Amino acid sequence: MKFQTSTKLQIPRGTDDIMPGEVEQWQWIEQKAREICSLYDYHEIRTPMFEHTELFQRGVGEATDIVEKEMYTFTDRGNRQISLRPEGTAGVVRSFVEKKVFGQPQPTKWYYMGPMFRYENPQAGRRRQFHQFGVEAFGSPDPLLDAEVIALGMHYFQALGLKDVRVEVNTLGDVESRLQYREKLIAYFEKHIDELSAEAKSRLYKNPLRILDSKDERTKEIAAGAPSLHDHLNDDSRKHFDTVLRALDLLGVPYVVNHRLVRGLDYYTHTAFEYTVDIPGAQAGSIGGGGRYNGLIEQFGGPSMPGVGFGIGLERVLLALGAQQVETPSKAGLDCYLITMGEEAKLVGMKVLQTMRQAGLRAERDYLDRKMKAQFKAADRLQAKTVAILGEDELKQNQINVKQLATGEQVTIALDELVAYIKQLP
Ligand code: HAM
Repeated sequence: MKFQTSTKLQIPRGTDDIMPGEVEQWQWIEQKAREICSLYDYHEIRTPMFEHTELFQRGVGEATDIVEKEMYTFTDRGNRQISLRPEGTAGVVRSFVEKKVFGQPQPTKWYYMGPMFRYENPQAGRRRQFHQFGVEAFGSPDPLLDAEVIALGMHYFQALGLKDVRVEVNTLGDVESRLQYREKLIAYFEKHIDELSAEAKSRLYKNPLRILDSKDERTKEIAAGAPSLHDHLNDDSRKHFDTVLRALDLLGVPYVVNHRLVRGLDYYTHTAFEYTVDIPGAQAGSIGGGGRYNGLIEQFGGPSMPGVGFGIGLERVLLALGAQQVETPSKAGLDCYLITMGEEAKLVGMKVLQTMRQAGLRAERDYLDRKMKAQFKAADRLQAKTVAILGEDELKQNQINVKQLATGEQVTIALDELVAYIKQLP
């Protein structure tokens, strides 16, 4: 029967299979994230990959691109509106509130890793299913915690060997500063309303800050003349931001203040930041972003409690590592490839193989009845350190022949010495 391929049987657009051979890189960057988080006392939380749609509408914001046009939303069989998570913060904050973790000693410091889903135009580093490593710290308004979070991300990049990562940082001020600024912005853009792009117009009363972020040329020109939030910061907001910057200076974090940085999510107050690095061929933008969100916990029904965190895009981290030709560890080879000759040795070989594996050696054998030469080839391909050969004669005498592939050195030893012999090899 001929197998007909149909698009239904192909991988959905914007998603990827992470194949053996590639997955080791993923495991390595995930492992590094865990190591760094443990140094800073952040603990892993795993929340569902889908939540009630309303959580993201209220958390991420109705007027954001993510909620307006990028969510995978469906009605489940119980008639609930469900969305695949487009980001991690909303779910983690929901859990913090729902599990009443706010009642425990603070701060609470969590991290997470896993797939997120956004219906975007796929390209290198912009996927419909992508993966984030994120951290969230709740329960302290201290600007030094903002600095810790930013530094943790930088420490992660450094541990991976990624160079030339910059931080762009801005402040959005507290709610009071933001509201005042919002009015000023609306008044300013209203004067230019006829020249604004359709998108900017639709955002004017819903989310005027996002107009500063516009990609439309004329809108950009107009936005360049808009009043700056920094002129509307109250004293508390200004002091918060100054302390963050002083701490970053002290920690040697290379940052630039970018007054135009507004993030694509609505929940930020005070500090907002993005990590950027050049990735040739990818227009992907930042490899991570985050900030402080002092109103979100309350908005989800918790007490008035602040939070700060980031999300780092792991696909983009891997692209950047690739572009900088950073060596990532490759698949480890076998300790031993077992070759058997004859029916009886073939069967007993199973026991020998199992003994090696139980003793913690990586071992493999032939399951295709290949000739000896082909089995040696397989051992090479699997980068085996040794080949153990069990023939009828060896079996009779409870012995086995072991060859080191690097040197060609060969010995015959008692079967029950096999594990110890391989383990003592360099
Ligand atoms: P975000 O800026 O939307 O923030 O996403 C964070 C990072 O995820 C981006 O900088 C990028 O590296 C990666 N990313 C986003 N979309 C895609 C995509 N379609 N394909 C590949 N990578 C992507 C957040 O998600 C916030 N939850 C961050 C945060 C945590 N803020 C506070 N706490």
